[in-house]
Amino acid sequence: MRAKTRTAILISGRGSNMVAIAKTAQAQTDYPANIALVISNRPEAAGLYKADAMRIPALAIDHKDFETREDFENELHAALLAHEIEFVVCAGFMRVLTAGFVEKWQNRIINIHPSLLPKYKGLNTHARAIAAKDKEHGCTVHWVSEGVDEGGIIEQARLNILPGDTADSLAERLLPLEQALYPKALIKALNTNIIDS
Ligand code: GRF
Repeated sequence: MRAKTRTAILISGRGSNMVAIAKTAQAQTDYPANIALVISNRPEAAGLYKADAMRIPALAIDHKDFETREDFENELHAALLAHEIEFVVCAGFMRVLTAGFVEKWQNRIINIHPSLLPKYKGLNTHARAIAAKDKEHGCTVHWVSEGVDEGGIIEQARLNILPGDTADSLAERLLPLEQALYPKALIKALNTNIIDS
């Protein structure tokens, strides 16, 4: 049997998607990823404590400690290598990654975005979907590429926008769909990755 892929999850805050993936990985003996590290670019991120409680090595690399984006990413890359990480999952990680970093992790880094990509790349996705009078909304797990929110789509989940929905109510109803989708999409990404590499 193939060894589990040593996977790091990058977060910036609450970390509920990280917890969903880590719980699935810990509960399912045949899950293909071992969540071996959680890194937050914000030291105060609640997700760090949640990772700690799940006995996952968790560390903060504060982007504010670095003069340039590249310096921050060099530290991030070094930490990933030091923990022998093979695959990176961005889950609510609110830093744009440079082309240089993305290239180092090409085909080994994925992200979740709260919209039905290619619609609404960037921020405020829920408000933008409502303002556009869209009938449905959703989330997308995609490969991380040089362009923000532009990499190939791995999986999507969708929901109907209801009359009276606000950005907050939509975000709240979408979150459980994200948490259900991401552990499944990670399996698919790892399988695709094996076929491609
Ligand atoms: C999620 O909605 C994700 O799609 C977005 O940020 C949120 C992160 O939530 N990029 P959490 O930190 O996983 O709870």
